[in-house]
Amino acid sequence: MALAVVTTSHDFRRACQEARIEGELALVPTMGFLHAGHQSLIKAAAQRAPTVAVTIFVNPSQFGPNEDLSRYPRDLSGDLRKCEEAGAHVVFAPASPAEVYPPGFQTWVEPGSLAAPMEGEKRPGHFRGVCTVVAKLFALSRADAAFFGEKDYQQLRVIQRMTLDLNLATEVIGRPIVREADGLAMSSRNAYLSPDERAKATALWKALSAARSAFKSGETQVSRLEELARAALEESRLKVDFAEIRDPAELQRPSRADAAARLFLAAFLGKTRLIDNGALGETG
Ligand code: PAJ
Repeated sequence: MALAVVTTSHDFRRACQEARIEGELALVPTMGFLHAGHQSLIKAAAQRAPTVAVTIFVNPSQFGPNEDLSRYPRDLSGDLRKCEEAGAHVVFAPASPAEVYPPGFQTWVEPGSLAAPMEGEKRPGHFRGVCTVVAKLFALSRADAAFFGEKDYQQLRVIQRMTLDLNLATEVIGRPIVREADGLAMSSRNAYLSPDERAKATALWKALSAARSAFKSGETQVSRLEELARAALEESRLKVDFAEIRDPAELQRPSRADAAARLFLAAFLGKTRLIDNGALGETG
């Protein structure tokens, strides 16, 4: 089946409606500038359903006033090629934000406590924008399943909770982080890095690995493990935004670390903000 590209909400709804006559529909929401991490989600979606829809939309409502909305990287023709290569059938690439947020738009999805710490604290309003656009994409597509990366683990949990709370029929499925050979988590924002910054960016992986090996050697004190991670980031001159250990379900700070507890990292390299996370008990 050739790739169908639609640019209006109306056409996206119709394309998904037609696809669902044939069987299940799986959705992969993205902001574009696709890489192998996004493609792994499309491939997993293609295993699940005969039709895969990908959305490519740099969602303004999830960016703060001082964030990188205006310079967020874009490459629609490259993205379409990567969608087709990974097995997508429908791509929704709205021509402008007004297609998603037309004049008069005024209804928002406000997430709760899962969205409060870490990314939610550092990026006020971010998850409100994410939840609102994802709820709209679920409503338009009526997808049976939607695939999200653990790269944005807090986002995954917030969206899973939203579908439960709002009785949405789309099953939310999380997939592992795809990394470069040196451990750096793939991200559209890696394109911002200079060669020097790119070399230093492995500090996030080093921080995660340091915490994991300390945990393996018996360290379960949360503040000690966080301090180790922070030190690994600072050693490469990254500016730490947060380094926190949280339980994987409710994202609360545990009294002691266990194998399922996750270390969450956010750090600046110059102007570029990078994130990563992983379970302490994983070898990665
Ligand atoms: P974006 O950053 O483009 O990511 C789209 C999806 O790809 C997310 O589910 C993200 O977790 C996943 N992803 C990114 N890098 C990954 C990697 N290295 N390995 C595995 N998966 C990875 O997340 C968003 O867009 C937006 O917030 C969105 C959900 C589309 C709402 O606007």
